[in-house]
Amino acid sequence: MEFTVENFTRPLLRYYDAHRRILPWREDPTPYHVWLSEIMLQQTRVEAVRSYYTRFLTVLPTIRALAEAPEDQYLKLWEGLGYYSRVRNLHKAAAVIMETYGGEMPRTAKELLTLPGIGAYTSAAIASIAFREAIPAIDGNLLRIFARLTLYEGNIKENAARKAAEDMYRPLMTERPGDFNQALMDLGATVCLPNAAPHCESCPFHSVCEAHRRGCEQAYPKVPEKKARRQEKYTVFLIRDAGKLLLHKRPDKGLLAGLYEFPNAAGHLTQEEALQYVRAFGFAPLRILPLPEAKHVFSHVEWHMTGYFVMVDELHPFPEKSALFPVGLKEIQNVYSIPSAFAAYRKAIYGIDEEAR
Ligand code: ADE
Repeated sequence: MEFTVENFTRPLLRYYDAHRRILPWREDPTPYHVWLSEIMLQQTRVEAVRSYYTRFLTVLPTIRALAEAPEDQYLKLWEGLGYYSRVRNLHKAAAVIMETYGGEMPRTAKELLTLPGIGAYTSAAIASIAFREAIPAIDGNLLRIFARLTLYEGNIKENAARKAAEDMYRPLMTERPGDFNQALMDLGATVCLPNAAPHCESCPFHSVCEAHRRGCEQAYPKVPEKKARRQEKYTVFLIRDAGKLLLHKRPDKGLLAGLYEFPNAAGHLTQEEALQYVRAFGFAPLRILPLPEAKHVFSHVEWHMTGYFVMVDELHPFPEKSALFPVGLKEIQNVYSIPSAFAAYRKAIYGIDEEAR
């Protein structure tokens, strides 16, 4: 089937005009707004992004404000969204935009691609939505739709698939390129579904889609088998005295780099081993309570955690260079950004028996 402006672009844009999702960043698509939303949406669902997006812009309304924000502030605004390198790169790129581009975002996908955290997809999304450049923003949705429309047999994860999808979409982007891309994203998110039966009866392409004609939508795209995630075990410690809790700052490189966490040890420790761990810091445990198991799944690793709440007589400070330090219980809420991986333990900070209050 040959795709044309008449059988593809027009029905797609008509679909968008009638069914587009109402999303805050679509109402006022300044380059900064589009950029921020695209970065937040990279690994996070639309519904989860809404409130983060609004709060972030209330606190940091301009690229200049973002460039000047202290690390703890922008990390805190990201708390719970995960993949924190996204916000670190946002901040770095804001500084580049201030220094190199006089505070204005560059206007082409090619220049946007040079900024930290902006890859092929994001540069195309920003350039098309904010600056009307006719360039397809190839994400999982556009790949899946392409594979079903054309019965693409290759591995969708490979560069050749991206290139083939680009070659199909690009000549069809004759008008409203930002809406063209967003219409395909919406179609992928609500109609041409990945893990469930697609709603082909509502699709503007139902008469031109090869997979639909043959009734084999769910056999496309072809994906290779996933590699199993690495499994890791940890014991998480809530080590407290009457007013403070011990926190640890993670190393600057690697998973959850530079974020704060509850001290933890590799493996699942017995209660006796846990007490030794606490005593090794020079603390005198008064009381120890086991905490429930918890699991957190990252893209390549799974953490299987267990934990202990340990009340000690007094949390003494550590030498200045140490990544371990006691903090007041209020500061944990307001200042330190603790990733969601530890959410199950966070609620036990105030003590197990007080949890029910
Ligand atoms: N996912 C990523 N970017 C999006 C956008 N602009 N609209 C809808 N879904 C998206």
